[in-house]
Amino acid sequence: MQRGFVDLHVHLLPGVDDGPRDLDATLELAGLEVADGIVTATATPHVASLDVAEIPARVAEVNAALRDAGIPLTVEGGGELAARGAARLSADELELIAHGPAGARWILLEAPLDGSIAILHSAADTLRDAGYGVVLAHPERCHPLFEREMQGLRRELELGSLAQVSSSSLLGLHGIRARRNAVRLLAGGHAGLMASDAHGRRRPPSMTAALAAACELGLDPLEARALCAERPRALLIEGLCPCGQASDGAAPANGAAPDAGGGYVAGRDVSVVRRVAPGAAAPSLTSR
Ligand SMILES: [Fe+2]
Repeated sequence: MQRGFVDLHVHLLPGVDDGPRDLDATLELAGLEVADGIVTATATPHVASLDVAEIPARVAEVNAALRDAGIPLTVEGGGELAARGAARLSADELELIAHGPAGARWILLEAPLDGSIAILHSAADTLRDAGYGVVLAHPERCHPLFEREMQGLRRELELGSLAQVSSSSLLGLHGIRARRNAVRLLAGGHAGLMASDAHGRRRPPSMTAALAAACELGLDPLEARALCAERPRALLIEGLCPCGQASDGAAPANGAAPDAGGGYVAGRDVSVVRRVAPGAAAPSLTSR
């Protein structure tokens, strides 16, 4: 249950942001990832903290160091894009931080911690217009998304965004509101995947603990594992289409059915998000 995780949000590159300060610290964090059951990770530095063109070479350097150190973690390049920075990146730069196969590329977009959801929506629209799917990083930490019956979050989900819940949020590292929001996402079937958003020893990966916490809260164990393993893996392999079609009632390209007023549940793989019909049973997670 607690092996084979895929971590699509981790600050692993050395010396670029508030993650590891040097390569030794990167290797230490990579070791923590492996100990946490993670086999594949995407290095997602804050995009504004480095020249995006350097990411492939920096990731290659990390992978070479991992091989030399005998640490069994495979790292792919990516980036955590701040909402305010979405319109500033060139087409080539967006490609360098995107994941997935051609035709189903997607980008990790940070839900702003200052709660600027109008800017978030605009950034997500910009990415969709450019042909990218959107994975929202830690929406549970952006509290305005949860106001008025999650109106802001529902807007994004209906347009095809996936919600990446951080394991640290579920464990309470970011406060009671973020934890409550994380539980709400899981309970309502709104979570598309779990990721660590780890930064190093002081903020380590915690997927194993979060999976256990989700199970203790009542989430089906296989569903909890899928959030940490199968769905993020499918995102890398099968990708995520921008789903703007949902706004006019057509079936989104990722396989989601038109909105029937119910919750959202990831299906067999993460790129297929189906809606739960009104009145259908949702995961029996108890919010607390
Ligand atoms: Fe992050």
